[in-house]
Amino acid sequence: MQISLESKVAVVTGARAGIGAAIARQLAQSGAKVVVSDIDAAAARKVAEELPDAIAHTADVTNEEEVKELIAATVEHYGGLDIVVPNAGIATTVPIVGTSFEEWRKVLDVNLDGVFLTVRHALPALLQGGGGSIVNISSITSLRGSALIASYAAAKAAVGNLTATLAAELRPHGIRANAVLPGFIDTELVTTHQGAFEEALGLEQGGFDDLIATKQTRYGTVEEVAKAVTFLASDAASWCNGSTLVLDGGFTASLL
Ligand SMILES: NC(=O)c1ccc[n+]([C@@H]2O[C@H](COP(=O)([O-])OP(=O)(O)OC[C@H]3O[C@@H](n4cnc5c(N)ncnc54)[C@H](O)[C@@H]3O)[C@@H](O)[C@H]2O)c1
Repeated sequence: MQISLESKVAVVTGARAGIGAAIARQLAQSGAKVVVSDIDAAAARKVAEELPDAIAHTADVTNEEEVKELIAATVEHYGGLDIVVPNAGIATTVPIVGTSFEEWRKVLDVNLDGVFLTVRHALPALLQGGGGSIVNISSITSLRGSALIASYAAAKAAVGNLTATLAAELRPHGIRANAVLPGFIDTELVTTHQGAFEEALGLEQGGFDDLIATKQTRYGTVEEVAKAVTFLASDAASWCNGSTLVLDGGFTASLL
């Protein structure tokens, strides 16, 4: 099956590196015009420069004015918007008892409010174009609890539920909303916190890698997430609405 996103315009937030950059590349490879957005302007520009038809736009997804400007700049440059991937995210690894309200709010701010703001301000453009596709980036942490990630997991669970509401509310308008739930993917977001997990779980140094090898067989790659996002964004997924696609090598399916 050949996925074509010819003539489609996509916005990807948090796209300077990791999963977001891979999504931007994969969407572009399928023919989409891509707005590579990130809080880090220089790095976003670098990703956009490598793509056939893309622009970079700096926006902090927690800043409503900047998000509005991102959508306005997209519509001004490309004349519309069809695909929205609110990918920007941050993670912390702190026990609940050591989490300040400020730290809690920060994670919810980027990972949940950032998704709301991006989708909220993208919707008029999608409605104007007569339809579109929203692909949210949730996580398997939305399905299970785990030490150290209370705020992250709560935000990702909320994103999963928000996806269902978006799907229900927007289906009369030809707008689909789906979410991917990646397991542990080989990016900075995971490597930064590996040591904290090892300490909390009483593992030796490197023990986290062994745990992942047992549960997922290996780390997932950013390309594997990007391919799933591209499928959901495309007409090949025309009957997928409100779905949550788990991408974890069998981690959450397996009891032992
Ligand atoms: N890596 C994993 O194992 C994994 C698993 C499940 C879900 N996810 C999700 O995938 C998404 C991408 O994560 P990643 O692993 O590529 O991590 P990453 O740290 O490499 O990328 C996150 C991106 O978000 C950007 N960002 C952070 N705060 C921002 C803000 N306020 N405004 C705009 N951009 C901001 C960063 O600059 C960065 O480019 C996140 O939503 C993450 O929660 C990752």
